[in-house]
Parts: sequence; structure tokens; C-alpha cells
Amino acid sequence: MNALMIKGLLFAAILIGATIYVVDSMNIDLSDPINMITMIGAIAIAVLTVGVSIKYINQMKSDTAGGELCEDKWDGIGEYKNELPGGWAYSWLGTVIWAFWYMISGYPVNAFSQIGQYNDEVKAYNVKFEEMHNSADASTLKEMGESIFLVQCAPCHGSTGDGLSGKAHDFTSRMSKIQILDVIAKGSNQLGYPMGAMPKDMATGADAEAIAIYVAGGMKGEQPAAFAACASCHGADGKGMSGMAPNLTVFDETLVGNVVKNGKKGALGKMPAFNDRMTPVQIKALAAYIATLKG
Ligand code: HEC
Ligand code: HEC
Repeated sequence: MNALMIKGLLFAAILIGATIYVVDSMNIDLSDPINMITMIGAIAIAVLTVGVSIKYINQMKSDTAGGELCEDKWDGIGEYKNELPGGWAYSWLGTVIWAFWYMISGYPVNAFSQIGQYNDEVKAYNVKFEEMHNSADASTLKEMGESIFLVQCAPCHGSTGDGLSGKAHDFTSRMSKIQILDVIAKGSNQLGYPMGAMPKDMATGADAEAIAIYVAGGMKGEQPAAFAACASCHGADGKGMSGMAPNLTVFDETLVGNVVKNGKKGALGKMPAFNDRMTPVQIKALAAYIATLKG
């Protein structure tokens, strides 16, 4: 055994010792097979690294070059025309075959994935959640709605739901006059009601103004005659004819659900769509909470 070998073994022993020290001080449970396999892997890497390094260091000391030299020289340095080492070539070929196997029938398409597992668990959890809270009472819904609201909605709508001085919808009233005038002028086609799109220019000038004031005021007092243009879809009472068109008087579940699912772009700005990130119970809870924000 030469001096190099002894130094190498010493180095490997230090690496292994350090690994054991770290594993021990982190209280890692080695009865867990995954931890044990990782540990064995670490030791194997230390031994292999040292072994392979010693082999090549020794070889460099005694090796002499041989073979046919390439014709080209760079600054007097030539290169041998060596065959590709067999081991290298076979591992390359093996990697290519493995890569195809991996893409076609290996991990990505057919086997376990953490993302798939996460999605399955979320789905199973949501089913349980819906069952558990299906008949939640009003105060539970309101509390649930408040906590969802504070996390998901408050960044834009404000923690008190006042819309942060006009940056988003102010929930203390159903809609402001500017928002209603904007919808009357431009129409609307984004929320996904059975009635479909609302045509633009449903009313103009003084009529539009009178309707907007009436609707923004909570539809109280005498109804302007021009509201007849709206009543055919929203109903004479503005309640949206059982969900066919938006309810203009309160934030009902259908409206909150449609807005959360599809987002909303209007006079105030753009609200992103949450797609299917809310369950029906969560939407009911949000609607219950928003209904309590009336000024
Ligand atoms: C042809 C049917 C129809 C008529 C008439 C109609 N609307 Fe609509 N309205 C709708 C539909 C459907 C929507 C939802 C459109 C969407 O998906 O964005 C809507 C949306 C709205 C909204 C937006 C609600 C929200 O929360 O975003 C307002 C405000 C509104 N209508 C007011 C009016 C007023 C005021 C009139 C009368 C001048 C009127 N509508 C006439 C069908 C109608
Ligand atoms: C990125 C900012 C943002 C977030 C987050 C956000 N909103 Fe909105 N929301 C808006 C804006 C802006 C409007 C007003 C759109 C307009 O101009 O009519 C709005 C409007 C609304 C409306 C009224 C729509 C109508 O037409 O009457 C409801 C209801 C609503 N948001 C509910 C929610 C709920 C519930 C959440 C949380 C799950 C939420 N929003 C999260 C920006 C946001």
C-alpha cells in the first residue's frame, strides 16, 4: 500500500466520519429505509470518489502515451487519434435509450407524481369539506367567508370591503353610478349568465342617468319609466329573474360565484378570474360575508 493510498483512505474516512457526525447531530432516523439508503449512497460516493481519484493519479505517474498522432498541431501540441472508450460509448447509448423509455413509459406520463398526488388530495379534501359544511349555519358561513375574504379578496377590495378608495368594487353598496352608466353604455359579456351578453346602449342620456341613480341608490323610491328597458332581463324588481341575469339589488351567490369564476373588467378596473379555485360552499360563504358589509 503506497502513501497515496493511505492518504486517500484517510480522506474517505474523514468524509464518512463527517457525514455520520452531521446525520447524528441532526437526529436523522436511520430506521427509515429512505434515510438509510441515502446514508449508504453517501458512503458509496465517498469511497468511489477517493478510489477513482487514486487510480487516475497513480496512472498519470506511470502512463506513457501511445497511438497515432493527429496531423494538426496547436502551438506544438498534438492529439492522439484514440478510439472512443467503449464504456463511454455504451453509457451514452444507454442514456439515449433510457431517455426514450423515461419519456414514453417512465415517470412523467405513467407513474406517481407529487403534483398528481397533491391534486388528488386537494380534490378528496374538498369533497370532505363540502360534505362537512353543506348545511353550515349563517354565522359559520359568515366567519368562513370573512377568512377567505381577508386572504383572497382584501388585497384589492380592502379589509373592510370598501374598495380602497375606488380601486376595486366597494361592497357597502351594490354598484356605483359610474359603474352602472359604464355597463349601460358598453354592455357586458364576461360573467356567464344564462341570458348571455348584455347589449350596449340599452339607454342613453337623461334616461341612463335616471336609471343609474335609481339602481345605485338601491332601487328605492319611484322607479324611472326608462327602467322598463332593463326590466325585460333584470326583472321589474332588478333581482335578475332567478339567476338569468345579474341581481342588481344584492350580492347574491350567483353573482359572487360568476364574478369569482370569470373575473370582471369594468369601469373601476380588472378583477382576475379565480377559475375553479373556490368550492360552492366557499362561494356561499363569501356571498354571506359580503352581504354583511352593507354601509
Ligand atoms: C337583453 C337583456 C338585458 C337587458 C335589456 C339589460 N341587461 Fe343588464 N345585464 C344582462 C346580462 C345578461 C348581464 C350580465 C352580462 C355579463 O355576463 O357580463 C347584465 C349585466 C348588467 C350589469 C352588470 C352587473 C354586474 O354586477 O356586473 C348592470 C349594472 C346592468 N346589467 C344594468 C342594466 C341596466 C341598467 C339595464 C337597462 C338600461 C340593463 N342592464 C338592461 C342582461 C340585460
Ligand atoms: C386583483 C384585484 C382583485 C381581487 C384579488 C379581487 N377583486 Fe373583486 N373586483 C376587483 C375590481 C377591480 C372590481 C371592479 C370591476 C369593475 O370595474 O366593475 C371587482 C369587483 C368585484 C365584485 C363586483 C362585481 C359586480 O359586477 O358587481 C365582486 C362581487 C367581487 N369583486 C368579488 C371578489 C371576491 C369575492 C374576491 C376574492 C375571492 C375578489 N373580488 C378578489 C378587483 C379584485
